[in-house]
Amino acid sequence: MTRSIRIPFNRASFVGRELDYLDEVRASGDYAGNGDMTRRAEEILTASLDGATALLTTSCTSALEMSALALNFSAGDEVIVPSYTFVSTASAFSAHGARPVFADVRADTLNIDERHVDGLISARTRAIVVTHYAGVGCEMDAILALGERHGLAIIEDNAHGLFGTYRDRPLGGMGDYGALSFHATKNFSSGQGGAVIAREASAVERLRNIRENGTNRAAFERGDVDRYTWVAQGTNALPSELIAAVICAQVEERTSIQSRRQMLWERYAEALAPWAREHGATLAHVPAWCDPTYHLFHLLLPDEATREGLREHLLARGILAVSHYVPLHSSPMGLALGGRVGQCPVADDVASRVLRLPLFVTLSDAEQAEVIEAITDFDATP
Ligand SMILES: Cc1ncc(COP(=O)(O)O)c(C=O)c1O
Repeated sequence: MTRSIRIPFNRASFVGRELDYLDEVRASGDYAGNGDMTRRAEEILTASLDGATALLTTSCTSALEMSALALNFSAGDEVIVPSYTFVSTASAFSAHGARPVFADVRADTLNIDERHVDGLISARTRAIVVTHYAGVGCEMDAILALGERHGLAIIEDNAHGLFGTYRDRPLGGMGDYGALSFHATKNFSSGQGGAVIAREASAVERLRNIRENGTNRAAFERGDVDRYTWVAQGTNALPSELIAAVICAQVEERTSIQSRRQMLWERYAEALAPWAREHGATLAHVPAWCDPTYHLFHLLLPDEATREGLREHLLARGILAVSHYVPLHSSPMGLALGGRVGQCPVADDVASRVLRLPLFVTLSDAEQAEVIEAITDFDATP
């Protein structure tokens, strides 16, 4: 049965000068990429990264794949990844020669459980990948210390966490590589789009080559070489100037976007806390040392049946709330790559109980009030 959705889970929108910037690109006649809009967007992102550099890409997935190419895996290499995350956190690495080893997540933040990672490190481990779930930072001090001690690369999947911080350091800019998403569901959106981040100048140059099919075209455009040629493994991950124009306009509006999301997030948290206490549900946990991005507002219901009951109850009122992340360790591909059923019990548990509520900048106060009222009307007691 098709039901009509009045309050969607997400609605992407233009928030500032997108149309002006698209018109600038149109007038320039230079659409292909690496032009003025790309430079402007990259400058804004880089300025927020405490010394690291951001390069625009066609998606977060392509940014993760570029970090995999930069790491140049050999047969037998392994990469530790959280089980509770989007597929590309793992597939970007398995597609480029590293076997993913799945780590369980913390029950409070749903981030990779840094206390389990040490036990997964072997002589074959090359890197640890973390996802800052919902834009709340992972325990990066512990993760970075493990990387240092064992000589491993740290990659931050920061699809949710642009402009968030962990102990005053920028999410995505602490590890060797970081990846951002500008997919339509994200806080800042160009429909599809992303950025790859690196701290070391040599890694940034490697990424510039990888982004342009493994050629040193960027050096050619700077006038450093008199023709460009194929120098490394690479791909085409350079977004067009049309995409860059939208990214640029969106990140320029970061203050208004983040403050509207924060307001909506805090209102959900305050209004739903008494209902959650009464019904055995848990709201998102944000450690005091994390400045989050308010990317998701999720509830953990007491069990899967209650989660499904609430989801149906909201759907009957035209409100779309969604669950997500089938844990990777026991997915068909995860099993084929060495994952085991039952390997990450916290991931299995939270995946069966999580429900995400509508949260986007154009969600009106009246729409949010309707969502809150619908939830507090739901009697979760068995
Ligand atoms: C944690 C995480 N990583 C990676 C991605 C992939 O992003 P993109 O669609 O930009 O490739 C997503 C997208 O939903 C995500 O949530």
